[in-house]
Amino acid sequence: MPLKRLSLCAAAFLSVAATAQPAPWMNTALTPDRRADLVQAEMTRDEKLVLIRGYYGDDATINPNHPPPPEDIRKALPRAAGYIPGIARLGIPAQLETDASLGVSNQRHMRPGDTATALPATLLTASSWNPEIAYQVGAVVGQETRDKGFNVLLNGGVDLARDPRNGRNFEYAGEDPLLAGSIVGEAIRGAQDKHIISTVKHYALNDQETGRDWLSANIGEQAMRESDLLAFQIAIEKGNPGAVMCAYNRVNGTYSCENDFLLDKVLKGDWAYPGYVMSDWGGVHSTAKSMLAGLDQESAYQFDREDYFGPALQQALAGPDGAVLETRLNGMVHRILRSMFAHGLFDDPPAPKPVDVSAHGAVAQRAAEEGIVLLKNARNLLPLSKARRIAVIGGRADVGVLSGGGSAQVMPIGNDPSQEFLTGGPARNADGTPRIPHEKMIYDPPSPLAAIKAETRARVIFDDGSDIAHAAATAKHADVAVVFAQQWQREGVDAPDIALPGDQDALIAAVAAANPRIVVVLETGNPVTMPWLSKVGAVLEAWYPGNRGAAAIARILFGKVDPSGRLPITFPQSVDQLPRPEIPGKDLRQPDNRWTPTETLFDVDYSIEGADVGYKWFAKKNLTPLFPFGYGLSYTTFRFAKLEAAPGAPFTVSFEVKNTGKRAGKAVGQVYATPPGASARLVAFAKVELKPGESRTVTASVDPRLLASFDTAARLWRVAAGDYGFRLGNSSADSAATATVRIEETTIKP
Ligand code: BGC
Repeated sequence: MPLKRLSLCAAAFLSVAATAQPAPWMNTALTPDRRADLVQAEMTRDEKLVLIRGYYGDDATINPNHPPPPEDIRKALPRAAGYIPGIARLGIPAQLETDASLGVSNQRHMRPGDTATALPATLLTASSWNPEIAYQVGAVVGQETRDKGFNVLLNGGVDLARDPRNGRNFEYAGEDPLLAGSIVGEAIRGAQDKHIISTVKHYALNDQETGRDWLSANIGEQAMRESDLLAFQIAIEKGNPGAVMCAYNRVNGTYSCENDFLLDKVLKGDWAYPGYVMSDWGGVHSTAKSMLAGLDQESAYQFDREDYFGPALQQALAGPDGAVLETRLNGMVHRILRSMFAHGLFDDPPAPKPVDVSAHGAVAQRAAEEGIVLLKNARNLLPLSKARRIAVIGGRADVGVLSGGGSAQVMPIGNDPSQEFLTGGPARNADGTPRIPHEKMIYDPPSPLAAIKAETRARVIFDDGSDIAHAAATAKHADVAVVFAQQWQREGVDAPDIALPGDQDALIAAVAAANPRIVVVLETGNPVTMPWLSKVGAVLEAWYPGNRGAAAIARILFGKVDPSGRLPITFPQSVDQLPRPEIPGKDLRQPDNRWTPTETLFDVDYSIEGADVGYKWFAKKNLTPLFPFGYGLSYTTFRFAKLEAAPGAPFTVSFEVKNTGKRAGKAVGQVYATPPGASARLVAFAKVELKPGESRTVTASVDPRLLASFDTAARLWRVAAGDYGFRLGNSSADSAATATVRIEETTIKP
């Protein structure tokens, strides 16, 4: 695209040299690498230094350790997560970064009045077991990223759910590398198809929030490669993200953002990743060490203890290691520019425009409808049909559905934190003190109450649940009671346990005692225990379902939609079943902020479960969970049969699935393989829509790495020769059909 046109599209965010001739690097027939080389050849060293160091996108004085940035930068800050200035004379656009896990975020209401479509949480999208939905959700977020003038999306959380208390599990895609990698990879692909850069994050093993700046996630290489790193590898292969965000935590003693093994050896070496590595906000701890380990860009340097890629780097470039660092500097700039070319930042800059609320809402609704999980449905209490009096109880169901907090927080369409009635006030600890005083729980409108009323002619009565006896009395006089229960989760803080907070368990138990025709709708960011499970009729896990969550819940309750979500994470019966019943580091006194020098470093031992995360741990320890990974009910019934496994290239599995019930529905066929002497793992899945009586044969290919173990000495994946068991079912604990196949030894590059 000629530079002249570029400057027209670029609105306020880009300024370009006014040359009549297009610059040679604007030739779209050239490869991104070549284009990067061409522009880089024109850059001064000072200009290169601009591209590798970002500013916090909002409050320029967030960290008193650093002087505020110059006035021109302050004026250009996008009021979002991050900003890297462009180079006007060469037409290099600024990088304008926004967060993403639930939609385009505006966590601290940095741009007053600015709202975005609240998509379902990533954990819910993963519950859809439908990569096509993930692609569409990603495309919506990508489009809104552009609509708001941003070109870098801090999306793609794929850390595995090793702990059901991790405060950020709602931003991630569950506990299995294949499911998580497939869902997140497709979301990234969808976003980047809108000509922006998406990250994948937080690389790697940022699997708990407690002490995330101080902990070291310790685990052997083989286990790491077969679990968390495999999820990243799959997501990167499917999504081709322009950037990887390294994590806050250390891995085996070394900070992720200066971890030579993670960055140089695995990511850029074994996986030949061509994009750039950006740090998490405050994740940098050194200059030369980080650069030489593979960090390409320091994000929002104000969050770091020192200005590592600023004056400190200038000094280092003049020192004895100057030549090596200069070479690295060129490599860093090349990677950043290459991604900017590869993902359209030069050729198709964002043009701010209003969000298409209705089209994007439709995608949000479809995603929520496919991801909400029906966990119990005794005597077919659902779908609700004949009720004439419905009691809706608790969970601020008169306001909206709960969302997750932290950098992913979206100001949803229709809400505004200045409207106190749409927030829940601060979440509280057991003793009543606010968990995070300055942060309120945000509800995504519209309300489930309104959505339920829209679906039924029954009389609907609301009781806020604050008076348990009153709520029980309300339920007693209704044909059915729908109780909304919630667990607020937020970045930076883990849940203290896996119980529903406050007196919600008591509320549900009391309502169930008054009326056993009770449906519990959970809006949680993690698995929770259900001491009342045997007493209630039905349970729906709605996670954080976003702006169209209320409609999706109501349509499932009344049977307009068949619930087709399946759990992407195991629901334990208690924390005693976990590899770590206590969250490591929970009693250590944490410093007030990450730039205060501290000695509070500690270790988290992930070698306890190693690669056996989630359902694999439960199987190994012979533990029965509350609900297994992959589980979820439908309003119809399915029969799975005729499992066959055909070794070869590609390795395929096929099976038959039949709708044996009276309603249309979507089955999720799951194939688990057990290599000789190893644990069973998901190797293929397919979501199939079937009319009553309809059957279909499904064939899916199996990534041979899922059958392999990682040989660290030879540095490759090795599929051992032997008999492999295959199991088909509707969860990790189900076995509707089996097959055994002899497989010859093969190896696969790392
Ligand atoms: C989070 C990242 C986020 C960044 C920018 C950090 O605290 O860990 O996920 O992208 O902030 O907001």
